[in-house]
Amino acid sequence: MEKTDGKKTRVVVIGTGAVGSTTAYTLLLRERMTELVLIDYNAEKALGDALDMNHGLPFTGRTKVWSGDYPDCAGADIIIICAGVGQKPGESRLDLLKRNTAIFDGIIEQVTRYNSTGILLIATNPVDILSYYSFRKSGWPANRVIGSGTLLDSARFRYLIGQTLNMDPRSIHASIVGEHGDTEVPLWSLANAAGLPVSFTEEEKEEIFRNTRDAAYQIIQAKGSTYYAIALALDRICTAILRDEGAVLNVSTLLNGYQGITDVYLGVPSVVDRTGVREVLKVPMTEEEAAKLAKSAAKLREMIDSIGN
Ligand code: LAC
Repeated sequence: MEKTDGKKTRVVVIGTGAVGSTTAYTLLLRERMTELVLIDYNAEKALGDALDMNHGLPFTGRTKVWSGDYPDCAGADIIIICAGVGQKPGESRLDLLKRNTAIFDGIIEQVTRYNSTGILLIATNPVDILSYYSFRKSGWPANRVIGSGTLLDSARFRYLIGQTLNMDPRSIHASIVGEHGDTEVPLWSLANAAGLPVSFTEEEKEEIFRNTRDAAYQIIQAKGSTYYAIALALDRICTAILRDEGAVLNVSTLLNGYQGITDVYLGVPSVVDRTGVREVLKVPMTEEEAAKLAKSAAKLREMIDSIGN
């Protein structure tokens, strides 16, 4: 049971499509909070999800689950935004920008009407740009506006390295940084198992990174959308916040002077605790890796400017 000392903790999930409902269910199974609120523009869907989850409570634990509306954001510890359109086969995450920015305009306005102290956790793509957009539009401090970033990409990277080495991915420490998308960057120079650098041929490295970067395209082609691993990544971030862990997670956060990068959200190793992003870690990287990160940042900056933000 994550809930301690009887303190109420509330998580709100806005957008109960595949990602939002799977995330809500994951949080419920793991008993992360005392109150879980589901909000969707299709109120019937949110109601159905809430009923369906409540009927499972005899098998989990005492969590209050209901479908609500924006006033229920009042007092929420974490507000997770999964609402928006997802990629269709062949679409990039950046292709979703205009449609999802318009959706976010309304959501952020409503959330900030009822909450000014919680943490915004953004999952909708393009997640880095929408996290930056939410930071600007909400007026909340950057540490309390977090994107899922490259946490999922890093998990894929660790899994694929583990598969190649026949090791548990939890024992592999490896980071993908930058855009959660096509310009993301593998930090091979830091990848290790028990502190021992992983060693692969160039071909192996190219294959592992290609399969990491393009994983979502493959899954979307196969089943229409991704939701299990992103839900687990969002649960990991919520746990670090609710348990005040100080966990190092590659979330999307505001960079100011990181490898010379400023005023853009990107996935980088960050310390996550009750305050949100407590600290951004300036991990060492090779010149080549830093140059690729700068390229990723430039691409996102260009897209941010394109929406006039
Ligand atoms: C993916 C989605 C969450 O990478 O962008 O699966």
